[in-house]
Amino acid sequence: MEIIIQPTRETATEIAARIIARLLSEKPDAVLGLATGSTPLLLYQKLVGMRLDWSRVRTFNLDEYIGLPKEHSQSYHSFMWENLFKHINISPDNVHIPDGNAEDIPGSCKAYEKRILEEGGIDLQVLGIGSDGHIGFNEPTSSLASRTRIKTLTRQTCKDNARFFGSEAEVPKHVITMGIGTIMEARHNLLLAFGEQKAGAVAGAVEGPVASVNPASVLQMHPTVTVCLDEGAASGLQ
Ligand code: F6R
Repeated sequence: MEIIIQPTRETATEIAARIIARLLSEKPDAVLGLATGSTPLLLYQKLVGMRLDWSRVRTFNLDEYIGLPKEHSQSYHSFMWENLFKHINISPDNVHIPDGNAEDIPGSCKAYEKRILEEGGIDLQVLGIGSDGHIGFNEPTSSLASRTRIKTLTRQTCKDNARFFGSEAEVPKHVITMGIGTIMEARHNLLLAFGEQKAGAVAGAVEGPVASVNPASVLQMHPTVTVCLDEGAASGLQ
């Protein structure tokens, strides 16, 4: 694992943006795995500002809420189009986000995995981390070999995500998420975390025992992981 600690979220994000820009210049048809939430917002702003060529880039998002209409302001479809896709020259055909309204969700999860393989696998996966150590929506005790599937959010994650909805009760309880096994197959994982509220999860991920109670800790077993942190998120490291 390469751990990059920067004074601020801004400078840590700048490094992450440059890593992605370099990949797209070396491989214009790269396959990117993308995340939502507050962590990558600045990254997406910076990528938009860099005016990169996305015409051949393919993307796969980590997760989506089940049952939330695509057009809902908090669906991850809306998030991605609002914050990144509508500002860049990506082809809608190259964008993949799990379908939380599919009639056959288990079937659509299998098809999602198949599609990732057909596109050649993920070159670089952007990850945030939950305060309970989740990556994607692989909550604590998720199987370390899991694939794209339905998961139930923990109370903690519903509480954390209530800030995006009117209240905790409005946060959908079920999601589709790439599995930990899926994430581990990305050729490069780029984890971003900012703020002291992530310090415990980051310390567990980077220095704790590898265990399903802290899903992000499995990244210690991955050959190519870059972790971009601000000082707050790094404050629990030894
Ligand atoms: C979102 C995702 C989640 C978030 C995590 C942190 O696609 O996969 O794992 O990265 O919940 O969320 P924020 O960035 O809002 O703190």
